[in-house]
Amino acid sequence: MINLTGKVAIVTGAARGLGQGIANKLASLGAHVVITDMNNDGAESTVAGIMEQGGSAESYICNVANKEEANTLINQTVEKHGKLDILVNNAGINRDSMLHKMDHEQWDAVIGVNLTGVFNTMQPASGIMREQAAGRIINISSASWLGNVGQANYAAAKAGVVGITKTAARELGKKNVTVNAICPGFIDTDMTRGVPEKVWDLMVSKIPAGRAGKPEDVANCIAFLASEQASYINGEVINVGGGMVL
Ligand code: CAA
Repeated sequence: MINLTGKVAIVTGAARGLGQGIANKLASLGAHVVITDMNNDGAESTVAGIMEQGGSAESYICNVANKEEANTLINQTVEKHGKLDILVNNAGINRDSMLHKMDHEQWDAVIGVNLTGVFNTMQPASGIMREQAAGRIINISSASWLGNVGQANYAAAKAGVVGITKTAARELGKKNVTVNAICPGFIDTDMTRGVPEKVWDLMVSKIPAGRAGKPEDVANCIAFLASEQASYINGEVINVGGGMVL
């Protein structure tokens, strides 16, 4: 039985979709969750949903692509709560385009949030977790890191997330900190709902489970990685995709 009572967690990009599902799950298992997003109304609504269920949460407005904002997020959370047990780097955007049509704005925006944003939170958090000699970092990569039509920027960022995850796992393992990555497959969120209908059908046709995933499918795996039971799992890249990538 997973119990996160007394744990302090940050989930980035938790105003909706996958991040909201992850935050709800961690809170339902007893963690106090800092709901971080740029979308204030969405973040407040995630907090309200958690409180209604008897959980504990607060919202924090932050653009993780901005290093000062990310640094302040981590440091203020530790000043307020005395520690940081769990960091889930979920914040992500897509600016899909065929490579020959992709402009630098689309490239920079996606790399800035999806890759630099992960470095921006992990850099201060890793120092704090080293000192605590405890911690869990879970990064959301994507099945797209292996390549996906129209996602050169997104795939490059998500492949980079795998690299920083495995490096941090090696650096922090002896400090009782684990760092793992999850690769969601095709999960039913606003982001995937934005793809053309023919691409949606194509994606779902590749999934042995026969359906798009739900945010809870991913959240269940994260809850386990955040728990004491997962203390010997480090540096892994875990697909949660109904068998989409085998
Ligand atoms: N697999 C195979 N072929 C694909 C494809 C895919 N996933 N996506 C597009 N194509 C094909 C199209 O069928 C089309 O082929 P034809 O020329 O033979 O008709 C060709 O690529 C060009 O596609 P479009 O005609 O749609 O070209 P466009 O320039 O108008 O749009 C696009 C290109 C923006 C990439 C659009 O196709 C698109 O949005 N595709 C979806 C991209 C995608 O999968 N995004 C995932 C979003 S969810 C997410 O990011 C979360 C996560 O972690 C996975």
